[in-house]
Amino acid sequence: MKILEGPHLSQLTTLRLGGTAIAEIRLECADDYGALPDVIRRFGGIPHALGGGSNLLVRDGDLPFLLLRPGRQADGSEPQRTGEDQEAAFVRADAGIPLPRLVSWCARMGLSGLEGLAGVPGHLGGAIAMNAGAYGCSTAPLVTRLAAYTPEQGLRILGPSAWECSYRHFSFLEPCSWSLIAWAELRLVKSTPDAVRSAIHANLTQKKQSQPITENTAGCIFKNPEQNSAGRLLDAAGVKDLRKGAFHFSRKHANFLVHDTGCGVPGTFEDAISLIQAAQERVHGLFGIELEREVIVWA
Ligand code: EPU
Repeated sequence: MKILEGPHLSQLTTLRLGGTAIAEIRLECADDYGALPDVIRRFGGIPHALGGGSNLLVRDGDLPFLLLRPGRQADGSEPQRTGEDQEAAFVRADAGIPLPRLVSWCARMGLSGLEGLAGVPGHLGGAIAMNAGAYGCSTAPLVTRLAAYTPEQGLRILGPSAWECSYRHFSFLEPCSWSLIAWAELRLVKSTPDAVRSAIHANLTQKKQSQPITENTAGCIFKNPEQNSAGRLLDAAGVKDLRKGAFHFSRKHANFLVHDTGCGVPGTFEDAISLIQAAQERVHGLFGIELEREVIVWA
């Protein structure tokens, strides 16, 4: 276990926003999960699972949060094949593996399933916890087993009957106060490196054209309403012309809030939230549709 005191959320989130937490606790092996209750008692504060911080909007200032991060963040540990059937290979990876590393490993191995997530800066654990998806791919349906820690049950290996998932939603069926995924096994279809690489290339090309991938964002702010597109509704509501402090909605895609860290005005949580609310109200006023937030808020 590694403990780093006073981590800055602005350095751990892709929106580059958020204050200072109590500590970041890196859980590197199964024994570390056994020691976790004592560590949480020692530091106090509210435990929060943190992956790549790519879907997070965090308050500024001193935060009473304990950040729990699975896996060794720095080492280059590779996913492992745990078995196969005729069509697919089963692959176990640390929840803390960054998606770009996992996706390029899949390309080298010629394993298909995660090509849609190319270019997403999150980690595997977070991608499962929110059932991240893009370009026809969703993470949670690929999971065949995972190890999850809850304060109520400790660290356990669970199968798909233990959770439910739908569009941008994943939850364990058994109630728990919070949970942290330690590793997951995925079923990936056998293909060829060339085929996987070309699907990744096609998705990345489309993503570059339609999303502000070089800016500080937290991905899409709102979920798409059923049979509709949040981006189109927000665009039609004129949110691309709204601005508050260092925040604005992307000209490229209206569902992305951009933090302009170079504009000379410090970005604040209040500004970000009030802009999101203004956008939500505009869409509601014009179309009668209540957009639901996809981005997770730690306030
Ligand atoms: N559109 C506009 N104006 C805009 C943005 C989009 O008119 O400013 C229109 C587009 O022209 C298109 C429609 O809205 O007709 C849908 O846009 P797009 O194809 O970009 O897809 P999306 O539904 O906005 C979803 C996911 C993305 C994912 C892409 C690709 C959600 C909320 N978003 O975007 O996921 O990358 O599809 O599969 O489900 C995320 O969840 O963070 C995310 C980025």
